[in-house]
Amino acid sequence: MRNSRKIMIAANWKEHFTVSQASIFLNKLESSVRSRQSVEVVLFPNVLTLQPLSVQLDKRKFRLGAQDGHFQDAGAYTGEVSMAMLRDLVHYVLVGHSERRHVFGENDDIAAKKMQAAVRNGIMPILCVGETLQERLAGETNQILHNQVTAGLMHLTAREVAASVIAYEPVWAIGSGESAKPDQAAAAIQHIRTQVEHLHGARTAGLVRILYGGSVNSHNAKAFLDVDGCDGALVGGASLQSHEFASIVEKAFRVHQERLPAHHG
Ligand code: PGA
Repeated sequence: MRNSRKIMIAANWKEHFTVSQASIFLNKLESSVRSRQSVEVVLFPNVLTLQPLSVQLDKRKFRLGAQDGHFQDAGAYTGEVSMAMLRDLVHYVLVGHSERRHVFGENDDIAAKKMQAAVRNGIMPILCVGETLQERLAGETNQILHNQVTAGLMHLTAREVAASVIAYEPVWAIGSGESAKPDQAAAAIQHIRTQVEHLHGARTAGLVRILYGGSVNSHNAKAFLDVDGCDGALVGGASLQSHEFASIVEKAFRVHQERLPAHHG
């Protein structure tokens, strides 16, 4: 089946790198990551680093994303940075990352408001969803994905959903070194796409990009990128090593190349 979805490789730097460390790291990345038209590479540094990196970065190679953003555009919300403040700096924003949900107690209602605030401000949101180990063992994975996807997309139109990205990130695979198995990722991604189809129709489901995240590295990346319906990877730990990350981008490029003949068939 022909699909026009561009592969995305996203680097979630989390709470790593000071402004100067990030600048030095970006220099390394710029020399190790090759510019590939068919792969969209998005960096998610900490919020303080966004502005200086936006000036430094080679816009033909990289885009910027924020790791979070508040749902109110302005107001008495001490410590928060709004999507309205981020809009000129970033293309993307992560919403509902498992660390936001599980460390900072953000629920589906907050994720839904952040999704809405992102699109209202012209930022493409990446909705992160995924089950805990306990939920997987209890056989609740599909139910959790269903709930998180339905809630997260609640305030968006079909058009807005089509332009968004969803990342399937099983909580137990994040930062654990134990990635999901490709067939587990395949089943979850399929379930998410079917849910989008139920909510917004086949056209939207065919357009929304769905990534896998959770202990992706240069050794396992190809297996995930080969998963039917998987449009890229959200990379944490391995994105902090320039050669490792560059190698994942190259794998994505090769997967794209391999897909080409089928497109023309
Ligand atoms: P990880 O993180 O690659 O270190 O597992 C992924 C993420 O949190 O998005």
